[in-house]
Amino acid sequence: MDSTSIVFFHDWFDRYVRTFYTNDGEMQTNIELKERHTKKVCENMKALGTRLGLQDNALRLAEVVALFHDIGRFEQYRQYRTFSDLKAENHGLIGVRVLEEQKVLSGLDAQEKNIVLKAVEYHNILDLPEHEAGEVLFYARMIRDADKLDAFDVVINYYEGRDQRKNHVLEDFPDDPVYTPSVVEKIMKGENISYKEAKTLNDRKLTYAAWIFDVNYGFTLLEIKRRDYMDRLFRLLPPGEDIANAHLYISDYIEKRLKEGNKKGNALERLE
Ligand SMILES: [Fe+2]
Repeated sequence: MDSTSIVFFHDWFDRYVRTFYTNDGEMQTNIELKERHTKKVCENMKALGTRLGLQDNALRLAEVVALFHDIGRFEQYRQYRTFSDLKAENHGLIGVRVLEEQKVLSGLDAQEKNIVLKAVEYHNILDLPEHEAGEVLFYARMIRDADKLDAFDVVINYYEGRDQRKNHVLEDFPDDPVYTPSVVEKIMKGENISYKEAKTLNDRKLTYAAWIFDVNYGFTLLEIKRRDYMDRLFRLLPPGEDIANAHLYISDYIEKRLKEGNKKGNALERLE
């Protein structure tokens, strides 16, 4: 992929998103939310790719994956007025369909096209399929990290300011002052938590915290630490021993993984 392709893809993205612009204030807010998110994920992806030593084509391909990872969000919102994959269709799969129907990737070679489509499909699933390997797996891991970094930013900023401005599309769960014990137990075992297990807003916050167990690169962990995401997220949870223990477990987990990475001399690279 040459450098003119990246300009074409950005142009295509801008034109496509503009077809969703509307006078409906809430809808416009949510379209812009995903547009802004995409731009941030592109920045995260380029920063991560650069730290991993990618150059030229490989770095541009990473950017294209980031640019299109949430392309299904716009159609999902237009059809279902929600960003919940449980209530609507899975936005990763909608994205693959949009890219194929609109033949957006026809200028890429077969291998590059396959990487983009698979990475979009895999960016939001709970666990990456075990049969995947090679470049598909590499780019899928990258987009999952780059996406999480900005998703932390979006949701934490939202929760911190939600008393002033509520967006009901981001309010999927009842704001009860409780959490589900099995959700905290999963954190104490270092396990990913499916959205399906969340019953309350606090559970939702805990599922975000558990994303930490699915981070692939030391670079991403360092950014999470630098941006103080975990401490900020836990400040938004009710006080109590279980929550304090979960917070401690995650802080220790981050330190341990970074230390292991440093020992191997690959602190910024993929963590085992
Ligand atoms: Fe997504």
